[in-house]
Amino acid sequence: MSNVLDPNLAPNGKEKIEWVKDRMPVLTKIGQELADNKTLRGLKIGMSIHLEAKTAYLALILKEAGARVYVTGCNPLSTQDDVAAGLASLGVEVYAKRGVSEKEYRNHLRMVLSSHPSLIIDDGGDLLETYCSQNEKWILYGGCEETTTGILRLKQREKNGTLPFPMMDINDADCKHFFDNRFGTGQSVWDGIMHTTNVLVAGKVVVVAGYGFCGEGIAMRARGLGAKRVIVTEIDPVKAIKASLDGFEVMTMREAAQVGDFFITATGCKDVITGEHFELMKDNVLLANAGHFDVEINLKDLAKMSYKTEERRENIVGYYLEGGRIINVLAEGRLVNLASGNGHPAEIMDMSFSLQALGLKCLVDKCGILENKVYNIPKELDNYVAGIKLASMGIRLDQLSKEQAAYLGLN
Ligand SMILES: NC(=O)c1ccc[n+]([C@@H]2O[C@H](COP(=O)([O-])OP(=O)(O)OC[C@H]3O[C@@H](n4cnc5c(N)ncnc54)[C@H](O)[C@@H]3O)[C@@H](O)[C@H]2O)c1
Repeated sequence: MSNVLDPNLAPNGKEKIEWVKDRMPVLTKIGQELADNKTLRGLKIGMSIHLEAKTAYLALILKEAGARVYVTGCNPLSTQDDVAAGLASLGVEVYAKRGVSEKEYRNHLRMVLSSHPSLIIDDGGDLLETYCSQNEKWILYGGCEETTTGILRLKQREKNGTLPFPMMDINDADCKHFFDNRFGTGQSVWDGIMHTTNVLVAGKVVVVAGYGFCGEGIAMRARGLGAKRVIVTEIDPVKAIKASLDGFEVMTMREAAQVGDFFITATGCKDVITGEHFELMKDNVLLANAGHFDVEINLKDLAKMSYKTEERRENIVGYYLEGGRIINVLAEGRLVNLASGNGHPAEIMDMSFSLQALGLKCLVDKCGILENKVYNIPKELDNYVAGIKLASMGIRLDQLSKEQAAYLGLN
């Protein structure tokens, strides 16, 4: 039995799912292929994902391909209750509500696992960690992991020999991180910040912590929105040079803290902004996180320094410091584009979720061959997704002649 906030919200959720369908032609086609080749027929799939319209459409595609699908969130604040209700009304088992406590969140993960799925889709690694932490075990084909932070957790398990089944690394497929982490995060983080705050970006100083794929996208879009200065902080010398040559200022967080109006973390690391930085910030700055976990902005430090906190607007908490300054934190420091927004554009997730669906097929097709390791998506599947996407965009490519292919050593 599904466990959602209010089943009456289903019509609104179904409308949202219907809206994204038209913008996800690659996933629609791959879903049709999966239904035709019956790979997933009768299998149980457990999913822990940011439950909004695009992920709901992925769950539906898998259901329509013949699987029984069990879904929960991967972050207590990113579930959209209307979408959860809509998905449940369409025959998917859903255990998810926005704003659940940590205990309920963990309980929902366990409910998904209690169906004994033979495949999982994870985003950030909590579903797999929950499987590892419980005594009850069963045989799975394996699973797919969506994001950078989840892959880091998987690689640690692979290294110490405790990965319980094969996992496909979706994040590192080109059609995922090139577009999702960069262009998806770039647009949706600003969408989340702007609609939450309703403040102007033009003329402001934006500080982006981390210049990986997500940070690049956020910095690029800050420039496009007219930010007066875009400052990057980094710990990796090569990324720092790249940011500098891309035209951004690079400095330490201590230096940036004194001049920024917006601070956005996208590192996957903890304690990127802490007490020593809050001490230096201007009045009324805005802080948001785009990284997977809510560990990048140290809110414990901030709470200790504050004499009061107050919800100043939906999803914005003001921390009032002695001396009169206010520091505003968006979405409790959870990933702002999903906790206070609609996530990435559907056209982007079309590719990421197509890779998820193909990753599941790979796991079933290669059952018995794969070891308990982290596998990259085969390059031909990446190219397959790119090819369908280009066709849907009406873009054609030149083709290599035999002679050219031979010249490049491709024959
Ligand atoms: N918000 C979203 O929708 C979304 C989408 C994709 C990925 N993510 C998450 O965002 C995070 C970043 O992902 P990515 O793909 O850009 O990773 P990445 O590894 O490409 O980049 C992270 C960058 O942060 C830098 N960094 C690490 N610690 C730092 C610190 N203390 N200070 C400054 N810089 C530091 C690293 O050197 C690296 O360049 C991950 O947690 C990932 O799971 C979020």
